[in-house]
Amino acid sequence: MAEVVIVPTPAAAGELVADEIVRLVRTRPDAVLGLATGSTPLPVYTALRPRLTGVDVSRVRGFALDEYVGIDPRHPESYRSVITREVVEPLGLDPDRIRTPDGSLDGIEHAGEDYETAIAAAGGVDLQLLGIGTSGHIGFNEPGSSFASRTRVKTLIEQTRADNARFFDSIDDVPRHCITQGLGTILDARHLFLLAFGEGKADAVAGAVEGPVTSSLPGSAIQLHPHVTVVVDEAAASRLRNADYYRYAFAHKPAWQGF
Ligand code: PGA
Repeated sequence: MAEVVIVPTPAAAGELVADEIVRLVRTRPDAVLGLATGSTPLPVYTALRPRLTGVDVSRVRGFALDEYVGIDPRHPESYRSVITREVVEPLGLDPDRIRTPDGSLDGIEHAGEDYETAIAAAGGVDLQLLGIGTSGHIGFNEPGSSFASRTRVKTLIEQTRADNARFFDSIDDVPRHCITQGLGTILDARHLFLLAFGEGKADAVAGAVEGPVTSSLPGSAIQLHPHVTVVVDEAAASRLRNADYYRYAFAHKPAWQGF
């Protein structure tokens, strides 16, 4: 079962996860981070900045979950740009060690395989950050995605395009296709941190943590992984049947246990 931690605010979630990332980088200076985009991981990146002062991050490597297909990589909302602006530059990471899937049309037919090869060559992802979409997607694995899927091109559902329209001038500008790590790729990471905030995520979180394991709710794939930490605020936790148990377990968590 995933460990579920219910925190008062997104900032508190960001601090908890950032502490884990710093611990990882201190013990493994060439750690491989699985990076996520969207609003959810921002508190983690904000909390990391002061915590990484004095920590050598020159060898840290990273792989983003996904990218839009056909978007100019210099577009401010390409995930390459977002990762550069929100993670690489503020945290002082080496841009050559941080990859996003290549969404350019030229070579798209082998971009997924290339990305898988690069992740494998890095030795796999140590710690993967995940948000969850209102559709239950993780990465851009929309409902129906195979649990065995690897990095590949997917078609975004309209709900996801509508959710992401806030980053663009209009919904018409949101690309229809993406290249995303598969559920099988994500499940290969050694430790998953799934974060969610707000009432709008409550159903997706309840389905992912406590619902049946089904490709209709791709986030439920986390139930197949041996090491998952779910960090949610009260609103996102509001439909979890076993919320009281999660609170009890966290309140009595032995100091030696860690995450
Ligand atoms: P959000 O997106 O963090 O912007 O809500 C999460 C997701 O779609 O995975």
